[in-house]
Amino acid sequence: MIKKFVAIQFFVLFFFSKVIRADEGMWIPLFLSQYNIEDMKKLGFKLTADDIYNVNAASLKDAVVLFGRGCTGELISNEGLLLTNHHCGYNNIQFHSSVENDYLTNGYWAMNREQELPNPSLSVSFLVRMEDVSQKVLSNVNSGMPESVRQATISKVIEDLEKAASENGKYQAVIKPFFYGNEYYLFISEVFRDVRLVGAPPSSIGKFGGDTDNWDWPRHTGDFCVFRIYADKNNQPASYSKENVPYKPKKYFPIYLGGVKEDDFTMVYGYPGRTQEYLTSFAVQMVSEVENPHQINLRQQRINILKNDMGKSAEVRIKYSAKYAGISNYWKKWMGETAGLRKLGAIEKKRNLEKKFQEWANSDETKQKQYGTLLAEFEKVYNQMTPLALVDDYLFEGIFTIEALSFALEFRNLLAINDQTTETEKRKIIDRLTIVSKGFFKNYNAPTDKKIMAAILKTYRDSLPSEFHAETYKFIDSKFKGNYEKFVDYVFEKSILVSQDKVNEFLVNFKPSMIKKLRKDPVVKQYLDFIDVYISKVSPTLVELENNLSRLNRLYIKALREMQPEKKFYPDANSTLRISYGKVKSFNPRNGVTYHFQTTLDGAIEKSKMIASEFDDYNVSPKLKSLFENKDYGNYAENGKMPLCFIATNHTTGGNSGSPVLNANGYLIGINFDRTWEGTMSDIMYHPDYCRNITLDIRYVLFVIEKFAGAKHLINEMTLIK
Ligand code: ARG
Ligand code: GLU
Repeated sequence: MIKKFVAIQFFVLFFFSKVIRADEGMWIPLFLSQYNIEDMKKLGFKLTADDIYNVNAASLKDAVVLFGRGCTGELISNEGLLLTNHHCGYNNIQFHSSVENDYLTNGYWAMNREQELPNPSLSVSFLVRMEDVSQKVLSNVNSGMPESVRQATISKVIEDLEKAASENGKYQAVIKPFFYGNEYYLFISEVFRDVRLVGAPPSSIGKFGGDTDNWDWPRHTGDFCVFRIYADKNNQPASYSKENVPYKPKKYFPIYLGGVKEDDFTMVYGYPGRTQEYLTSFAVQMVSEVENPHQINLRQQRINILKNDMGKSAEVRIKYSAKYAGISNYWKKWMGETAGLRKLGAIEKKRNLEKKFQEWANSDETKQKQYGTLLAEFEKVYNQMTPLALVDDYLFEGIFTIEALSFALEFRNLLAINDQTTETEKRKIIDRLTIVSKGFFKNYNAPTDKKIMAAILKTYRDSLPSEFHAETYKFIDSKFKGNYEKFVDYVFEKSILVSQDKVNEFLVNFKPSMIKKLRKDPVVKQYLDFIDVYISKVSPTLVELENNLSRLNRLYIKALREMQPEKKFYPDANSTLRISYGKVKSFNPRNGVTYHFQTTLDGAIEKSKMIASEFDDYNVSPKLKSLFENKDYGNYAENGKMPLCFIATNHTTGGNSGSPVLNANGYLIGINFDRTWEGTMSDIMYHPDYCRNITLDIRYVLFVIEKFAGAKHLINEMTLIK
């Protein structure tokens, strides 16, 4: 009897887990009909795979864009209106901001088309189609080739294919590796370069909770802003022109006002940037136990200095707001990731899989020959790699984040000028540097950078073995008795790179004979010293190990797929268009704690009452407060409350910010913007009990646009579904 009961339970569990197993994975739209659609339907999805992705007719994919370099956006009107996150549009909002017109703090709303603001460095791209080109790309390689030859052979084919596919620049054509180079796909996109800022809420809404709440739940951030895509008169991509007109998309998302309830189907359609789900235990060990803690510490130092200086001056606060957000974002994420991996016992789990793998590989001679030594090789590579990866981190998360040194990096082409360099080439280098330096100084505060330089130089030396110490340290010891502050005073007094006037003067009067002196500039010298460490002591071995790894990873994932033929594998995220799907779900992050799936505006007000100061993350504007007090929510309330965010089990990562979150009918119900802290390890290991994406409820977006900003004309463009 008992046995039977257990058997039934087992069956139910097994069956059940098969049905709802969907949450993990970022799937390729091209293969939904083969891989996922049945599963999606079981979860409640009502459309077809063709509705999501189709190259012969308009489909949902035509309403999704890659926004800027690393976010996603979605079309919501027939006139090119586009939504993304406030933090994705942040740089552009900042670009239009000054102390007098502080759109970051106060928000911005174009009340007519003339007021929509152009953004020179912003573009969005639509995927036209994707294609499996694995056979073509891999046609000339064989397993005996050295890795570098293999890479060169592949690169050549890729270059030719991309060139042909771009149709003389009409499209952007990119080929990317999947499954560590076992497969290759071509992506053809159309790039629009006239994208204008239409509206942004004040940071007290768009960034509510700031870095205090970042990566956390319960969340009350109205993380959205609005842009519009412009095209030429023929609806084709064009660079900015007054004559351009709003773009008419093939498809835009209808907006659903009915909200969500627990267990509802949701789907995220966007551009996840990078995951590493198939790492070995050795790699997880290196990332979580060695690299993350050091990188967290390096960022912590910069955060402390920035926070202090930004608190003292409005000018510094505006200059550094985007930089600060960038630094603190992954600082916090790495902490969550490390904790999450430990909690899951990720290294142990990987080891168990590897044990099974080894047994499988040893089970017959062919496999043994192909895969028998893989794990031992991995172990050896990671043993060699770990100390060097750490130096790499100290250079690229430390030394080269000193802004003066990162600016020096921009001078590398100038420093490389020689007798062969033509006048035209020189002109180009100088012109480019003139633009770069203008951008650099717009957001630069030398006194802040000075403090960072002193702190990071010290940490670097204290943390790494002496063989990696740059020449600079000898100078610091001999001339300044090891006193970093005094050294840094000297650097900032003598260097031309930290003064806009001096850089301008240098560029205007540039002659190649000035390069010799430039090399001795204390910022340039310091930069060259550390580059020297990198080139002589780090990169040669690191490159070799990485080449090795690329072969090992390629074989390992190939083997894993052979070993588990019944398992559906999804490729790691690589900034290509993907579908994640799952359910709206509450969860228990820790023993005794339950996180409800939804928040409302009440929670923002509650947080705001707990604090007093003006610049606090929980500041609520009087206008929003009065809308709240009068329950003036327009058509957007649910049972008298204003819904704000919800969580679901969709597997997402950085790059999914701004992604449309869709319901079973493909209607827009929200904008993806974050994950919960307890689930941030999903880039390396997903777990359905802890991993949740955070979505901004679309009804809050519409409420802010209509009631807070008074921009009803934008709502009138949209298609609303009750
Ligand atoms: N954590 C989200 C993401 O990874 C939001 C970041 C916004 N930045 C911030 N520092 N609050 O992009
Ligand atoms: N905020 C992230 C982004 O900018 C998304 C959060 C995540 O990493 O899941 O893409």
